[in-house]
Amino acid sequence: MKGLILCGGRGTRLRPFTYSGAKHFLPVANKPVIYYIIEALRRASIEDICVVVGDREQEFRSKLGDGSKWGVSIAYIRQHSPLGLAHGVLAAEEALRDETFVTVLGDNLIMHSIGDLMRHHTGTGAEGTILLSPVSDPRRFGIAVLENGRITGLVEKPEKPASNNAIVGMYVFSGAIFDAIKRIKPSARGEFELTDAIMEMIREGYLVGYRVTEEWWSDVGYPEDLLAANRRILKETKGSIQGIIDSNSILGKKVVIEKDAHIENSVIEDCVVIGSKALVKNSRIGPYTSIGDGSRVTNAAIKNSIIMENCVLEEMHRCLDMSIIGEGSVVIGNSETETSGLWIGRDSIIRSL
Ligand code: DAU
Repeated sequence: MKGLILCGGRGTRLRPFTYSGAKHFLPVANKPVIYYIIEALRRASIEDICVVVGDREQEFRSKLGDGSKWGVSIAYIRQHSPLGLAHGVLAAEEALRDETFVTVLGDNLIMHSIGDLMRHHTGTGAEGTILLSPVSDPRRFGIAVLENGRITGLVEKPEKPASNNAIVGMYVFSGAIFDAIKRIKPSARGEFELTDAIMEMIREGYLVGYRVTEEWWSDVGYPEDLLAANRRILKETKGSIQGIIDSNSILGKKVVIEKDAHIENSVIEDCVVIGSKALVKNSRIGPYTSIGDGSRVTNAAIKNSIIMENCVLEEMHRCLDMSIIGEGSVVIGNSETETSGLWIGRDSIIRSL
């Protein structure tokens, strides 16, 4: 089987971070979202991966290369306009027409095993297999209606959801999906919906199966999702210390200190990752915080936050909470109050916060 990762689209819901780069490279526990997907495909022994890209093609090519870093081969397919997920899949028809392939949405972090979904697909002899998960906010997702173990309805972001079974961004398809995509019309929001194409397969009499996952997953669609995903992944992290910690510092549980990071006179609480060559001095970090490679944090308290690479944070004596600081940004504080929900994009400067 081959793999397909959909990374077109504009990422507008993740602005300001997506003004300067694709959302798929935003870090969760200091690792870009798309790396988790490539690793999961590799674990399922999928070594041939097509990545559908839009305007940010060059960023993907330079950061992922030919995939050899992961022991896979990556081919790039350009989707010329973000006309919807189904349109993105169709762009890969030439490469995948004669294959059964796994499709993963490039902004989904999914703990469910890809191998399990593939085995289910093969075992049932279906032409399509989708992954479902009960959610509390079904209007945000594609939704499946089930009756007697069969899918009887699939609706994209329904106003009045008939169920809370969200479609997770992991699918297995045969080439039949391409013909179904060619038959659908754009939805009310003007997109060729993959959900509609799968429903079209069912209408045509193809067997489309499903699995319901109990594992954690997240669509990293909004900044709040990025923070929640960061928290979740850090919670599962196994601690590892490679950097240098002075004798005045205290470390909590599940702490990762990468190579050449320096921790001086600081408290690192539980569930924290400090990237390589980062410096943390006279500070309290965590819980649930990632500090990117090369960042420097001095005289600061930070919790539940993502600090990307090469940032400088100083004099944040009152805590910075639930914040996302884009790569290369500088934040210098002197506030007497705690700061919560500060989201700033790449290369920004804030003085006297
Ligand atoms: O996260 C699960 C949900 O993902 C499903 O429940 C929905 O059924 C499915 O339609 C999808 O909804 P989203 O609105 O969250 O999809 P989004 O526009 O965020 O796109 C998902 C990925 O696909 C993202 O990596 C960008 C890429 N994409 C998107 C569009 C619109 C493309 O490659 N091409 C496109 O034209």
